[in-house]
Amino acid sequence: MNKIVVEAKGIEKTYKMSKTNIVKALCGVNIEVREGDFSAIIGPSGCGKSTLMHILGLLDRPDAGTLEIDGIDMTKLPEKKAFRMRAKKIGFIFQGFNLIPTLTALENVVLAGRYGGMKKSVRINQAKELLKMLGLGDRMNHKPSELSGGQQQRVAIARALMNDPAIILADEPTGELDSKTSMEIMDILKKLNRNENKTFLIVTHNMEVAQACKKIIKLRDGKNA
Ligand SMILES: Nc1ncnc2c1ncn2[C@@H]1O[C@H](COP(=O)(O)OP(=O)(O)O)[C@@H](O)[C@H]1O
Ligand SMILES: [Mg+2]
Repeated sequence: MNKIVVEAKGIEKTYKMSKTNIVKALCGVNIEVREGDFSAIIGPSGCGKSTLMHILGLLDRPDAGTLEIDGIDMTKLPEKKAFRMRAKKIGFIFQGFNLIPTLTALENVVLAGRYGGMKKSVRINQAKELLKMLGLGDRMNHKPSELSGGQQQRVAIARALMNDPAIILADEPTGELDSKTSMEIMDILKKLNRNENKTFLIVTHNMEVAQACKKIIKLRDGKNA
């Protein structure tokens, strides 16, 4: 068995909008991800998929439960350490690409290396290599608005790979792409998994995307289903 890279147990999260408006988004979810996994999280809209991804990615904290990433207990990490851990251990790919609009493709990717503590010359070279590998060698100095959706998502993939993270979390990575571009993006992710043993956890409600994954994790009403 491959080593465990993410182990979450009993994750709970409640959003308190007001005294009377309380949403229990996660009610004790368990997730295990092993090195080399290519897993899908599926479940109806509102079942807590994005909430869970934010918690696994150290963007938000659970109210209860434990989280270990790469063998490190993330449960009580101070915010500063969580920031550095997030940069080094987690790659994110979002539905809306989430690139910084004022920065070029290259600058967006380089920034992730800065957050991860890479030296300046190293991060620039690494970012160029990744963008070339993703077929964006001639688009490095373009701003996100000057790129197609598929190209923006490839920039986001390069950004996610920058610090060689333990896991790449992708929340509806093809949600804003047409079906042909969606399959191109999925092929890139599958190749990274197959050829470079990158570990992926992918939220989707596209069955074609889920079927391209090796394991399926089902959520329903904030619980494992
Ligand atoms: N920031 C937030 N504030 C309040 N409620 C939220 C917030 N984010 C999500 N929710 C609620 O939590 C539940 C789970 O949402 P989410 O994790 O986004 O589900 P999914 O990604 O599966 O569609 C939903 O009922 C949603 O309305
Ligand atoms: Mg969601």
